[in-house]
Amino acid sequence: MPSRNIRIIGDDLLRKKSRPVENFDEKLHNLLDDMAETMYASDGVGLAAPQVGILRRVVVIDVREGEGIIEMINPEILSSSGSQTDAEGCLSVPEYIGVVTRPDTLTFRAFDRNGNAFTKTATGFFARAVCHELDHLDGVLFVDKAEELQKREEA
Ligand code: NI
Repeated sequence: MPSRNIRIIGDDLLRKKSRPVENFDEKLHNLLDDMAETMYASDGVGLAAPQVGILRRVVVIDVREGEGIIEMINPEILSSSGSQTDAEGCLSVPEYIGVVTRPDTLTFRAFDRNGNAFTKTATGFFARAVCHELDHLDGVLFVDKAEELQKREEA
């Protein structure tokens, strides 16, 4: 599973709208495997396909809450409620973190890698990650929504 290069803010591709997946084939499976590898290699909690240069509605998330990786194809948020305001970062915006308000709870529908639909409810940090990654599919970055941006400390 090779990891793929992550696009960084300023790259026009990150601002484009991704298209739905139509074929749940080996090419999709390879993309998902590579995205997982890339996310873990970068110590991220989520990754959307446009971040690796693919304009398709594909997301992987692992918020390290014990559930492992969740693959989401053509995801849609069905309902959301509450709000939470906290710091957020992005592998495509390596130099900054920002404070973003997101729903506290949401229910989403998506397809798995074999084309089976599922629905899931997410709360807290998981809900934040879902919102953040779905924004990527519409060309939106957290910096567009952040109330405050702070430069990360130099490593
Ligand atoms: Ni991101």
